[in-house]
This record gives sequence, C-alpha cells and structure tokens, in this order.
Amino acid sequence: MNVLVTGGAGFIGANFVRRTLATRADARVTVLDALTYAGNAASLPEDERLTLVKGDIADMDTVSDLVGAADVVVHFAAESHNDNSLHDPWPFVHTNVIGTYTILEACRRHGTRLHHISTDEVYGDLELDDPAKFTPDTPYNPSSPYSSTKASSDLLVRAWARSFGLEATISNCSNNYGPYQHVEKFIPRQITNIIDGVRPKLYGAGLNVRDWIHVDDHNDAVWAIIDGGRIGATYLIGADGEVDNKTVVETILTEMGLDANAYDHVADRPGHDMRYAIDASLTHDELGWQPAYTDFASGLRATIAWYRDNEAWWRPQKQETELKYEQLGR
Ligand code: NAD
Ligand code: TYD
Repeated sequence: MNVLVTGGAGFIGANFVRRTLATRADARVTVLDALTYAGNAASLPEDERLTLVKGDIADMDTVSDLVGAADVVVHFAAESHNDNSLHDPWPFVHTNVIGTYTILEACRRHGTRLHHISTDEVYGDLELDDPAKFTPDTPYNPSSPYSSTKASSDLLVRAWARSFGLEATISNCSNNYGPYQHVEKFIPRQITNIIDGVRPKLYGAGLNVRDWIHVDDHNDAVWAIIDGGRIGATYLIGADGEVDNKTVVETILTEMGLDANAYDHVADRPGHDMRYAIDASLTHDELGWQPAYTDFASGLRATIAWYRDNEAWWRPQKQETELKYEQLGR
C-alpha cells in the first residue's frame, strides 16, 4: 500500500508515519511536507520504506504526481497554531484552504482515496457547564483564523465527496499530546520552560478546558477510519480527557518535582475558546476503536520523560518560540 502523508514532518503526521512503518509491513510511505518552522525532518525515522519530499501542498505541479502514485492520501498538513493565526492569518488561508483545495483536485484527477485530518475547534466552544459535547451533527462555529480555515477545508472535502463522488473521509480530533510536538504548544512549552528553570505561563485564569488525547490513540483511530470508515462520513476522535489548563500546569509541575503553584498568569489569548469536549461514540460503535491511554497523568509523565531525553530535538526551536511569545506579551 502506497500511503502519501501530507504534513508528515509535523507533530501528529510524524507520529503517524512512525506508527505506520512499525505496524504495517505492507506500507510504503511518502511524506510531502514544506518543512515550515513546524516541520522537522529529524522527527522521521530512517527507513527504506519512507521517502521525504519537500514541497508545498498548494503547488499542483508537486502534488499531482505524488497523489497519482498513492493508494491513499492522509492529509495532515496545516498551519496549526491559534496564537500564530491571530498574529498573521495569511499562511492559514494559503495552506489550510488553498492547500486542501489543491489536494482535493489532485485526488479527483487521479481517483485517489483521501482521509482529511481536522480538529474539534471547527465547532467553536462550549460553556464550562454545558452538558452537551461535540458530535458529528454539531453546527460549525469556528472562532479563530486557525479554526475557520480548518472549517473551510472540511467543507471543501464534504463538497468534493458529494459533488464529485470523491472517496473521502474526515476526522475531527481533540487536543493531542505526546512526543515530537512543537514547543510553541501548551504542554511542551511548559515542560521545556520548567527544564530551563522558567515558570510555566497560564493564559488568563487557566479555567479553559481541553479534551486531551494521546497522539498514538488519534493515529490508531485514523487507521481504523481508513480501513473501515464509511466514504463521505465524518468521525469524531476523543478520549474523554477533559482537563482545565490550570490542572494541566499543576500536574506537570508536580510530576517534575516542583511546587504545584510555581507558575505565572499571563495575558489571555483574544477570543480564547472556553471548552472543547468530544462525543466519540459513533467512532467507537462503528469502528470498534478505543483509546489505549486512559490515564492522562501517566501519558503526561511519559511525555515529560520524552522531552527530558530528547533535548537535542527541541532545543533549536526554543529560543525563537519564546521570542515570538515575548512580542505577544505571553
Ligand atoms: P504541526 O504544525 O505540528 O505540523 C504541520 C506540518 O505541516 C508541518 O510539518 C509543516 O511543515 C507542514 N506544512 C505546513 N504548511 C505546509 C504546506 N503548505 N505544504 C506542505 N506542508 C506544510 O501540526 P500538528 O499538530 O501535527 O497537526 C496536524 C493536523 O492535525 C492539522 O491538520 C491539525 O489541524 C490537526 N489537528 C491537530 C491537533 C493538535 O492537537 N495538534 C488536534 C486535532 C487536529
Ligand atoms: P494550544 O496548545 O495552543 O492548543 P489550542 O489552542 O489548539 O487548544 O493551547 C492549549 C490551551 O492552553 C489553550 O486553552 C491555550 C492555553 N495555553 C496557555 O495557557 N499557556 C500557553 O503558554 C499556551 C501555549 C497555551
């Protein structure tokens, strides 16, 4: 099976490539990645079944032949960080919207199966006390340039499936954690700050809730959809991992042997979504997928150990990332 992974040098894509090569003896993987600030060839393993192509998913000349040679395209490539999207939205429109359009047109041209990776953030946010969770029927209501461009990409995929009969599926997953995540994101930022002797930074009061899932659980669900998902369907992926940001920071501090209160509150993110929560029952019932990491604290412990053991991987990103945050006052 020839698998084309867009964005395969990013956090979730690289974990997907590693897991695919480790668990699927019949898979050959091609990664198409622009190697932006978020992409890192060092996240990928050395493997004769893996080819890395550096290129932009919005460039049809690059995309078309690669899609034509693939049995399935797993589309992870995106601009993925909310804070960056508030600062400079254009790369989000370029990659998430025009890039996805280009992938869709190439899949249509070659009749290639597509799985599109998306986020629960397309649904907007929930109140803290809302008994509802997101389901595949929740109306789209994105808040930021990041989530609105991801919502746009989902709608394009749905239209190409319906109007052109494209063999596509979509998944919307909650917040991922695990190895190889860029240090701009919440959990690795705090772990690496603590390693550097810097106090963790909590936006606002820290009451915002995210529904955490280990990246391997996300990627196993993606394979379950590729293997058995209904063409045209949307699947939600989550692991019932709702935790507020304050508790996440306190847990990281405690796990790293520090006082749970040794963090600072900083300026809040404009338009900051309050809560995300996934109802993944359709994905469980239809595909039999279940998360393996059900204890967030132990998943976090393993992630802390990974960042301690892999400083050479994250160190080159750290200073530039913190400079960007300094300019934003966060
Ligand atoms: P990431 O930012 O770590 O990686 C994105 C990758 O895409 C990078 O390797 C980057 O170089 C590449 N890329 C960016 N623009 C490109 C372009 N124009 N052409 C080719 N490659 C390009 O992101 P991630 O956290 O791994 O997220 C991957 C996907 O999963 C995204 O679609 C994101 O919306 C979705 N998602 C992420 C989360 C999460 O918690 N991180 C949760 C749900 C869904
Ligand atoms: P993030 O990892 O950026 O993911 P997302 O915005 O897609 O949910 O942030 C997760 C949560 O953590 C979010 O509520 C913002 C908050 N946050 C902080 O409190 N401090 C930080 O330094 C960062 C990066 C995020």
